[in-house]
Amino acid sequence: MNVNNNVNLKPFHTFGIDMPCDVLVEATTIEDIMAVYRNPEWESLPKLILGKGSNVLFTEPFHGVVIINQLLGKSITVEEDGILLTVSGGEDWPSLVEWSLEQGLSGLENLAMIPGCAGSAPIQNIGAYGVEFKDVCSYVDYVDLTTFKRVRLSAEECRFDYRDSIFKHELLGRVMIVEVGLKLPTTWAPTLTYGPLKADKDLLTTPREVFDLVCDIRGTKLPDPQVTGNAGSFFKNPIISSESFQTLQALYPELTGYPVTDGVKIAAGWLIDRCGLKGHQIGGAQVHPQQALVIVNVGEATATDILELAWFIKLAVKDKYGVELEHEVRFFDSQQETRLEAIFAQSQPFSH
Ligand code: FAD
Ligand code: EPU
Repeated sequence: MNVNNNVNLKPFHTFGIDMPCDVLVEATTIEDIMAVYRNPEWESLPKLILGKGSNVLFTEPFHGVVIINQLLGKSITVEEDGILLTVSGGEDWPSLVEWSLEQGLSGLENLAMIPGCAGSAPIQNIGAYGVEFKDVCSYVDYVDLTTFKRVRLSAEECRFDYRDSIFKHELLGRVMIVEVGLKLPTTWAPTLTYGPLKADKDLLTTPREVFDLVCDIRGTKLPDPQVTGNAGSFFKNPIISSESFQTLQALYPELTGYPVTDGVKIAAGWLIDRCGLKGHQIGGAQVHPQQALVIVNVGEATATDILELAWFIKLAVKDKYGVELEHEVRFFDSQQETRLEAIFAQSQPFSH
């Protein structure tokens, strides 16, 4: 276990913003994690578990212990009804996807290039190009941070939904995910339902071809965090009632929606784009000129720049369409998780 005090979190989150934390621990074993929570010196300090920091924004210096998940290890078991991949929580997700293809396995190709750790993937039920984590999940193992018991949840018990799971609700802040079990098919069952994949359906004859196409599309749409700081989609795609969708579509016939169980999902990127906000900039924070759903750090953005831009976007979309955007990115202040709405609750709209 590697422990350092007064660490700049810049290299530990993909927005790449300077922000200090009091203590940073790199945990390579479950015993390391238990030792952090049992350490009397740190007992009263807030604690935050981090994977690759690709879905977080630190809004203030963090006065607590940041624990980096570095639990490594993966194995393949051939079972009667498929292949089971057993993956430790700190394994890098995009590398895992590539490795699975190299092993001749399929099932993860649509989820290529999603930054982060395998142990973070269940939290927001990562998804892209027609596949979500829930579709390949067999189980999720966590360690309860109070009892230190290891618990296994089935995919059903994780209560996965769009960018959601039990880990954002009942288990929020109470557990560390240490392992995931992924169930992959023995013969390829492609998912080619999402727009650009559907268009090329007949040309896509192997998992590798799907992987390559997904990588190509992502490369053109999403900025590389190694080059330009960002955390992927900043907001979730809103789900609105069928009635609200019909009203909006009457006003904006080009608006498309996807029916889901509790309404119609519409594209937040489209809404932001049609507010004319592509390229809009506040300080070092900018609405990505190619993908309006992504906020980028174009230089020395501060957390305040990002927050002000996010709030500006939220107000603009609400004003024009009456639709409430909810941020997907997780915010942390000096002690705990917080939300955009809480930060700006008392403030007046900006004039940017
Ligand atoms: P972090 O950002 O480190 O943590 C996220 C949250 O999970 C935090 O609240 C943290 O405290 C908590 N956490 C992390 N690890 C654990 C653990 N082991 N136990 C308990 N809590 C934990 N997401 C998609 O769904 N689809 C996409 O297509 C997609 N594309 C992206 C593209 C880019 C360029 C970027 C930067 C992000 C993208 N994302 C996407 C978002 C991101 O990749 C996912 O949310 C990813 O799962 C985050 O993993 P992480 O390890 O970086 O988590
Ligand atoms: N659109 C615009 N202008 C824009 C951006 C998008 O008009 O600036 C329109 C597109 O033309 C398209 C629609 O919005 O009709 C949807 O766009 P896209 O296919 O690029 O997907 P998205 O809704 O922006 C979602 C996920 C991504 C995921 C992709 C692919 C969310 C919040 N985002 O993006 O996930 O990779 O679909 O499946 O659900 C993430 O969560 O961080 C993320 C990147």
